[in-house]
Amino acid sequence: MPQQTTQAVPPGPGPSALPVSEPRDTNSVTDAPFLRAARGEPAGVTPVWFMRQAGRYMAEYRAIREHHTLLEICARPQLAAEVTLQPVEHIGVDAAILFADILLPLVPLGLSLEFTAGEGPALHNPIRTAADVAALRPVDAETDLGHVLEAVRLVRRELAGRVPLIGFAGAPFTVASYAIEGGSSRHFVETKRMMYGAPEVWHALLGKLSTVLADYLAGQIRAGAQAVQLFDSWVGTLAPDDYRAYVLPHTRAIFDRLRPLGVPMTHFGVGTSGLLELQREAGGDVIGLDWTIPLDAGWARVPDRAVQGNLDPIALFAPLPELKRRVHDVLARAAGRPGHIFNLGHGIVPETPVDHVRAVVEMVHEATAGGTT
Ligand code: CP3
Repeated sequence: MPQQTTQAVPPGPGPSALPVSEPRDTNSVTDAPFLRAARGEPAGVTPVWFMRQAGRYMAEYRAIREHHTLLEICARPQLAAEVTLQPVEHIGVDAAILFADILLPLVPLGLSLEFTAGEGPALHNPIRTAADVAALRPVDAETDLGHVLEAVRLVRRELAGRVPLIGFAGAPFTVASYAIEGGSSRHFVETKRMMYGAPEVWHALLGKLSTVLADYLAGQIRAGAQAVQLFDSWVGTLAPDDYRAYVLPHTRAIFDRLRPLGVPMTHFGVGTSGLLELQREAGGDVIGLDWTIPLDAGWARVPDRAVQGNLDPIALFAPLPELKRRVHDVLARAAGRPGHIFNLGHGIVPETPVDHVRAVVEMVHEATAGGTT
């Protein structure tokens, strides 16, 4: 069902092969429910994890954030590893996701990144012109983003095979939107101004980004990430024709580069009900489904892939019986078919009650243990 069979060890020799001395397979958890489902295989139980599962809704995360900024946590492998493990230990999820941020690769490219309290990310020298694109520095993921790769190695060691580790990057469109706008955006005016008005500059920028992001993800896989997710969070702002012309080739280049490395890849976006077939065409063994489309209707649009989703993140604020009804509705629509990873349609928000997050893990496991999924 996924695009290809996944192997625990990338087929070598070649640039993707690990040094033979590296004991990569000792805790590879190849049969973990998350990896089985991502490959479209029966998993025994429906795996569940949450986007933004390490974050401010958890007291343990807030305790670390009292003493360190977000960028400090990302820059220090020991802290990043500790935070990555928090939801595995306190929530009981079936996968860990590396603690990092999709904007980190913009720093070695030459952008000045800051997270301001309450206002989110700020990039102080946004990319607007051909000269800005030409001035982007070459990036060597192994050295320039070595702290992230070191966090991957540490997490793998500390997980000791409990659950698989997901690496991730932002997709070229979503990362470009931050780089061009200089931060979060509502209407993506500068992004679309460049796309429509200076397509050669746009394609030069997305070409550079897709190379850096693919190198970075390949580095994460070599460091031990057992799956990867590409976050194209804001791509739902595009009309299908624009997606095809301005985004699809660049996103596809990343999936094509990584496919030989043999780990399952997830392609995620929000507001994507107009784009699912095109996202599938761009690539990904697993397609993310947000909550604006029923899971079964979304899956029917990408029938040869696994799917991940699709509970509304704000459903976690509902009283437990209502939350349970919604969890069971998603599971009923998956109908025991192999290849469903339970998740939210987007990330957990900071005010979310942590006991409801834990309850969802229990609900999914209880309802599906011993089943055919
Ligand atoms: O637990 C995990 O999911 C792993 C960690 C993770 C973070 N960011 C840490 C983070 C992941 C996977 C991301 C991805 C990310 N970052 C995305 C794509 C996912 C999505 O939600 O769409 C995007 C768009 C970003 C950019 C970003 N980072 C924004 C817009 C913000 C500010 C908004 C906010 O929630 O405050 C961030 C900050 C950020 N990245 C936080 C975390 C835990 C919260 C900040 C904090 O602790 O101060």
